[in-house]
Amino acid sequence: MQIAIDGPAGAGKSTIARRLADKLGFVYIDTGAMYRCITWKAIKNEVDLADAGQLTNLARDTHIEFRQGSSHQLVFCDGQDVSSAIRSHEVNAAVSKVASHPEIRRIMVRQQQHMASNNSVVMDGRDIGECVLPEAEYKFFLTASIEERARRRQAELTATGLGHELEKVKIEIEERDKSDANREVGSLKILPDSIVIDSSSMTIDDLMNLILDTIRGSGYAV
Ligand code: CDP
Repeated sequence: MQIAIDGPAGAGKSTIARRLADKLGFVYIDTGAMYRCITWKAIKNEVDLADAGQLTNLARDTHIEFRQGSSHQLVFCDGQDVSSAIRSHEVNAAVSKVASHPEIRRIMVRQQQHMASNNSVVMDGRDIGECVLPEAEYKFFLTASIEERARRRQAELTATGLGHELEKVKIEIEERDKSDANREVGSLKILPDSIVIDSSSMTIDDLMNLILDTIRGSGYAV
């Protein structure tokens, strides 16, 4: 089974996708982490983020892997644990620009489809329902008010020692959303078959129950 979860920054996609995958025994694939890895490596190697050719060579030469840690999934880029490094403000500010290059997206989408080919998956991102898993049984579009998303993201950043003022976090995610929604390929959008959920006033448990009820409602025993 394939479950796609798309939506804007800070909507709670990765929290719910991880929980859902645990509950169902599926593989969780955090596609945002993959674009973040390419961005992190490009910044480290001082690659011009507007240079599609250089970025494409770098992406072709990058090995991204998810490994299970003691409490959560870890992200490895060329054998190095970058789970925290890819969440920095620097990467946040640049990732949407890197993700806007069609050739970078083609490379990432191919890898994501390969990861999903032999497993039941929960995959979260921006273009999962449209480009990566167009045949997914469930396509959720998860959103929340900008205030709530900024508050959640600030809490996450503070927990990892990367805290920032609420207003700055809000501006950062608004800019990224605008850029993600307006690019030509793989843009963030609600699809005709998306199940839209506004989680602004929901707890994670409420959200989890709603998603599980939706899946049960179509006959799956979960
Ligand atoms: O966790 P958050 O929602 O802030 O972002 P993310 O899922 O880690 O994704 C980071 C960025 O990667 C997004 O803002 C997009 O620019 C890009 N991305 C994408 O283009 N396509 C995807 N399938 C996933 C992420």
